[in-house]
Amino acid sequence: MSALRKETVLSVRHWTDSLFSFTATRDPGFRFQNGQFAMIGLEVDGRPLLRAYSMASANHEDVLEFFSIKVPEGPLTSKLQKIESGDTILVGQKATGTLITGNLLPGKRLLLLSTGTGLAPFASLIKDPEIYENFETVILAHGCRQVSELAYGEQLVASLENDELFGPMIEGKLIYYPTVTREPFRNRGRITDLIASQSLFRDICQPPLNIETDRIMLCGSPAMLEDLHNIFLSDGFKEGNHSEPGHFVIEKAFVER
Ligand code: A2P
Repeated sequence: MSALRKETVLSVRHWTDSLFSFTATRDPGFRFQNGQFAMIGLEVDGRPLLRAYSMASANHEDVLEFFSIKVPEGPLTSKLQKIESGDTILVGQKATGTLITGNLLPGKRLLLLSTGTGLAPFASLIKDPEIYENFETVILAHGCRQVSELAYGEQLVASLENDELFGPMIEGKLIYYPTVTREPFRNRGRITDLIASQSLFRDICQPPLNIETDRIMLCGSPAMLEDLHNIFLSDGFKEGNHSEPGHFVIEKAFVER
């Protein structure tokens, strides 16, 4: 196991009964690529209790940010959800993960498809100026059961749009597509269905899925990952990895916390 560092919690925000985000100090020596994850957690009974968490902050930011689910019986998140500013968390110093642009072939449109806290690595990536240089269009789709679960993503996108520096850079390039499955909302349905039917593209007035131009990153529930994986494979898309870039990449590191 790589070295663990103690970092100090700076802020905690509870978004819903089951979602929260927090920021923490960042050791200047902790390096990562946007979209990667690290092992983070707490010391419990004198031992580190760690899970894989994507950095939701970008690598140019001074602080770390994480977006987490709260599982009442979850060994880590039942405790992590109670952290307050000033508390100590553990951060593994080795970042890794497949959701990096280097694992994708060059393309024109980048699709970031997420459900639930699978949004986190994309929160980091959409703050990366490089993706707007590498892609003409970036589509961030986020699927949740309830409207309230979209709040973290909605606020993040709004803050980028209103940012003096980022606003002009992402204008007309970043398209945010939130969708909800279990209550009324302007976009309804599972991301899988919206991709398979192409209605996601119609809703945002974009051309349909195209293997020549589209590069895709997936992060979310195991069922969603499997279904989208199958949809893309059957369309001829090839999965990329560290040794060979492809049309799409999947992060499989996350399990129930
Ligand atoms: P649904 O409400 O139809 O189950 P969860 O909170 O369980 O992680 O789900 C987050 C979102 O992911 C929900 O909107 C859920 O829709 C959706 N989802 C669950 N399974 C799949 C799947 N196989 N493909 C696409 N979306 C899915």
